[in-house]
Amino acid sequence: MSDSPDTPIRITWKPSGPIIVEGPVLIFDNAGDPIEPPPAKHPGQVKLCGCGLSKTRPFCDGSHKR
Ligand code: FES
Repeated sequence: MSDSPDTPIRITWKPSGPIIVEGPVLIFDNAGDPIEPPPAKHPGQVKLCGCGLSKTRPFCDGSHKR
């Protein structure tokens, strides 16, 4: 997780899995409305669906494991 505004946000791409974002981020839908991420197992971490199977897109719901 980013500790200060100067610390870059870390993004980890997992092939066939989520895109993990660590750091303070705001997420908006196509209309510009904010989207609240689900509670994270690791505070400060957001998992975006990279497989296209999630029912809670843009967030990962674990469907990539099935
Ligand atoms: S990456 Fe987890 S459901 Fe798509």
